[in-house]
Formats: sequence, structure tokens, C-alpha cells
Amino acid sequence: MTTEFVKITDPSVPEAKGILEKAADIVRSGGLVVFPTETVYGLGGCGTDESAAKKIYAAKGRPADNPLILHIAEPSEAEDYCYTSPLYYELAKAFMPGPLTVIMPKKDSVPSSVTAGLDTVALRCPEHPVANALIRAVGSPIAAPSANLSGKPSPTRADYVFEDMNGRVDMIIDGGESEIGLESTIVMIKGDKLILLRPGAITCDALSLVAKNIEIAPAVLEMLSEDEKPLSPGMKYKHYAPDSPLVLLDGEEKDVVNYLQSEIRLKKCAILCYDDEAGMLEGACLLPVGKKDDLTAQAHSLFTLLRDADKTGCDVIYAHLPPKTGLGLALYNRMIRAAAHTIKKV
Ligand code: TXA
Ligand code: MG
Repeated sequence: MTTEFVKITDPSVPEAKGILEKAADIVRSGGLVVFPTETVYGLGGCGTDESAAKKIYAAKGRPADNPLILHIAEPSEAEDYCYTSPLYYELAKAFMPGPLTVIMPKKDSVPSSVTAGLDTVALRCPEHPVANALIRAVGSPIAAPSANLSGKPSPTRADYVFEDMNGRVDMIIDGGESEIGLESTIVMIKGDKLILLRPGAITCDALSLVAKNIEIAPAVLEMLSEDEKPLSPGMKYKHYAPDSPLVLLDGEEKDVVNYLQSEIRLKKCAILCYDDEAGMLEGACLLPVGKKDDLTAQAHSLFTLLRDADKTGCDVIYAHLPPKTGLGLALYNRMIRAAAHTIKKV
């Protein structure tokens, strides 16, 4: 398959409208288009077409029992695809369009291939103007997982999408770097309770302004045992792990730096360090993540740095263990998976 690679900087200019019309035609006729969102790039197909979902699983090399998110242009469109509740509309008012995915009981209009046979469906209304304009141009929801090959980090730049998806999709729309850099927060509505299935830029603190009762699913923080069945099928799959082992260091900043200084003498190290530590870690391949307190910058660059770390040919990759508070919980969740839960106390 030949993949058309296009760029859109402003979706409102006539040239961009022409590209979006073409992309929408591809989706409506059963093809696949990669599009930018504010979280990560999505690999989109027609959300009401049984066979489009199957093509998405094949292009990604993803097991067909891991369901897809339906992307809508307006929160109220959820009515056509699932059984909503007042809590859904409160979440929508506070956080949509934006980086939040909500899981609710599905209606028959959603093909079972999209939900991998589950009786619930995940809905998200993205804020990125290109994503929103594309869904509107298609005229129905777009089913889309992150646009990486299964097992790779979610792509936050079109060149990473190209690495993974060239020849596997009909079109890739380059809309620049993803603003947030981590995938959306996923919650499941259960009566008046929210279950957090995947932390993201909409933090627990933010959610608690809308819902009093929030439960964090065990798989967010811990490793599941072999026989445990997660609430979200995606939690059971091995997530991105770099070729070299990633070790997360838990301790005071000065102890972490001391430990790293001795490790640098023994091994070829790649280090995801805070910006102000760079001068103290000479001899290692340094990948600065931002300032210690700037979790937004760290989230923005994490997946890029993990892809870069893999290209250094180091023996080991070190990073700080993130805090479990605020946006730190999303970083913690992604990093313990990438590190296969290897945490070293220093
Ligand atoms: O930010 C995002 O959410 C990006 C952009 C493209 O929107 N999408 C994304 O999709 O990260 P994906 O497929 O990589 O992750 C979606 C996760 C998977 O772990 C899947 O198991 C879970 O959502 N999921 C989808 N439908 C579900 C359902 N009905 N019940 C439980 N989990 C569900
Ligand atoms: Mg994904």
C-alpha cells in the first residue's frame, strides 16, 4: 500500500479543507488515516464499519481483543452510541473537548469489532482542531487507537508515525508535535462512581471536582498477576519496553545523582535526567526531561526520549521514579510499564 504523507498547519485554510475532504473520503470508504490529536497521534478508521476496525488491528499488529476508542466531534453525539448518564454530561461540560475518554454501556450502533466484543464503549471528543475537523468531515465517529505499532511508544510526532505506519495506512496527516504527549485519561462510569483505568492529563484532582467517588483500578499502579482480568483489556498487554533495560531510581535527588555517578564509571548509561542534573552526569548519554517540578514538560517528552534512548546502544537506561500525584500518576503508570516494574531504591 502506498501511504500519502500530508501536512496541515491550519485546518481552516482552503488547502487544508481539501486535504481533510480527501482524508474523510478515505475513512468513509473503509480506508485508514493517521491524524494528530492533543495527546498522541491516532490511527483512524470508520467507527461504524465492522471491517475498518479489523483493518486497524491488522495495521497495528494489535490483538483483536483490545478495544478501540470512538472519537466524536461533539459530546452530545455519545447518545447515538451508548447509554449516557448525568455524570457523563458533567464530565463533558468540564473536560470535553479534551484528553478524557469515558467508558459507558454501548448501543447496537457500535460494531462489536470496535469494542472487541465488550458491552461497553470508550468515547473521546478530541480538542485538536485537525482531529475535530476530520471527524466532522467524515460525518460519523472515527475509531482510533494510538498510531504506533503494537509494543512501541505512542507516537507524538509524524516522523515516528512514518517509522511505524508507512505502507500500512492510506494517509498520514502531519499536524505537528502532540501537545500533551501521553494518551488520554480513561474513566469508566459505574453509577455515581468513576473508575480510573488510565491516568492522563485530566488528573484525579481535576476529576474530583466533578465526581466525589473515584476509584483507581489496581492495574494503574501495580503489576497484574497471570490470572487477573483487568477492567481494561489494554492493561494486560506488555507495553513499550526499551531494548536496553529501564531502571527507575527511587530516592532523594542527591542520592540518585551519587548512584548515577558511580554507575557511569561501570556501564554505558543513558539517563533521563532533570535539566539541572546534566552538568553532574558527564560520561553518560543524557536525555534531559525538563525541570524536576515541570511534570507537563516531562509528559510532553517521555515517549520521544524513550524512542531516542533505544537508539543510543547503551547497556542500561536510568530515570527518576515519578511522583504518584497530579500528572505524575500518568508518568508513573507509563514508566513502570516501560521498566517492567524495575524500581531501585537508592
Ligand atoms: O489519547 C488517546 O486516548 C489516544 C488518541 C489517539 O485518542 N488513543 C489511545 O488509544 O491511546 P489506545 O487504543 O492506544 O488505548 C485505548 C485503551 C486500550 O488500553 C483499551 O484496552 C482501552 O482503552 N479500552 C477501549 N475500550 C474499552 C472498553 N470498552 N472497556 C475498557 N477499556 C477499553
Ligand atoms: Mg495505545
